[in-house]
Amino acid sequence: MTAVRPDTVPQPATAPAAPVPFPTGFVWGAATAAYQVEGAAAENGRTPSIWDTFSHTPGKVLNGDTGDVAADHFHRYRDDVALMKRLGLKAYRFSVSWSRVQPTGRGPAVERGLDFYRALVDELLEAGIEPVATLYHWDLPQELEDAGGWPERATAERFAEYAAIMARALGDRVGTWTTLNEPWCTAFLGYGSGVHAPGRTEPAAALRAAHHLNLAHGRATEALRANLPAAARTSVTLNLHQVRPLTGSAADADAARRIDAVGNRIFTGPMLKGAYPEDLLADTERIVNWPELIHDGDLAAIAAPIDVLGINYYTPTIVSTPADGTGDTRNDGHGSSDHSPWPGSEHVAFHLAEGKPRTAMNWSVDPNGLHALLMDVARENPGLPLMVTENGAAFEDTVDADGRVHDPERIAYLHGHLAAVQRAIADGADVRGYFLWSLMDNFEWGYGYAKRFGAVHIDYATQRRTPKSSAHWYSEVIARHGLPP
Ligand code: NOJ
Repeated sequence: MTAVRPDTVPQPATAPAAPVPFPTGFVWGAATAAYQVEGAAAENGRTPSIWDTFSHTPGKVLNGDTGDVAADHFHRYRDDVALMKRLGLKAYRFSVSWSRVQPTGRGPAVERGLDFYRALVDELLEAGIEPVATLYHWDLPQELEDAGGWPERATAERFAEYAAIMARALGDRVGTWTTLNEPWCTAFLGYGSGVHAPGRTEPAAALRAAHHLNLAHGRATEALRANLPAAARTSVTLNLHQVRPLTGSAADADAARRIDAVGNRIFTGPMLKGAYPEDLLADTERIVNWPELIHDGDLAAIAAPIDVLGINYYTPTIVSTPADGTGDTRNDGHGSSDHSPWPGSEHVAFHLAEGKPRTAMNWSVDPNGLHALLMDVARENPGLPLMVTENGAAFEDTVDADGRVHDPERIAYLHGHLAAVQRAIADGADVRGYFLWSLMDNFEWGYGYAKRFGAVHIDYATQRRTPKSSAHWYSEVIARHGLPP
């Protein structure tokens, strides 16, 4: 059907109502993560994290890129906060580099490391921007990996100690705390497919890591509560997969169930309902000994109440079980590897949505997936406030002769997804905020600097910051507290 301009035709009696405005207090933010933007990899006592080791290992990251300098945010944070203020951002979601604060991953904190985050937070508060701190965005201190990493239970205990240190250092100034960012990636890309640090390809270790990440989240939530003022909010950010079966067949429904189990319910089960799903345990029992892995009291610890659930969404996950049983769990949009990041779900095939635009990551653009995901989570967890802690897209941005960066595809992506958030709110989901990924171009993990997700362009040769047209567009959205008509 050809689109008609509403002002040229009479409106039908059943014209959809004007969109419900974003609620007062809805938080407009942008996000980054320490290893992706900070640089200053060896300054002020910081020691290597698993991402330093991984990125310095030939063949692991595209073009041999590393986070040694990245966007140099460590040195340029003042300018970056000033830029955020000019754009009108209300909140900034950043992460703390654990090995900058606790170089060995244990013991007392290094004050010089903490000072950077104190200064960053003070600068944000001064600019009227709310700091939202994530404790773990994938950069485990290398010493802890050398001691076994996330497949070892002790790592969860170390994480709780680190959480307490951070809460004591910044609890008077940071109101919202997130324990982990996307533990699925840590466990299954880090220890399963090996496309992320530390690059291990051991299905049992990946499942052990998942349990210890859950435990780390629970213990850290408890440590945060014990050390934060009563008004502070705790949260975790999950990359919940919006899983859809390719067809209505029973085989495809089973593929969707399996991927939902090891992609979503492995975290939401224990964190939000106090138990691992039975079907997940059955699907993976030949890989890992769950009764030995889960100690008495673990499930109660993991289910420590949180105040907000962070959701990262980019693209839906469409799956099938091919009739000939030749599915390929590696071809799932999470980098290429000979190993599956989906233990217990062999022979599942992944598909791109038909007829939808694609981003530079080759991810299909599908805002309906965000609406569906928010509605599902809201329905499953009544009373739990939600926050979109990441959403955004990489495109092939270029700087024009006039020095500007025009990125209409990113504007269309953001517009579509913010409209989806708005619809979810109108349909009853309690979504409290939206954080664009990312404030600026940065180190996109295995893709290095080849993929640009920023609303602000970074010229890595000069570190010049140029807000793209999407940054100006987002700035207007924030100013009007709503989407343009
Ligand atoms: C999610 C991760 O949290 C972030 O670090 C990454 O850059 C984006 N996805 C884009 O892939």
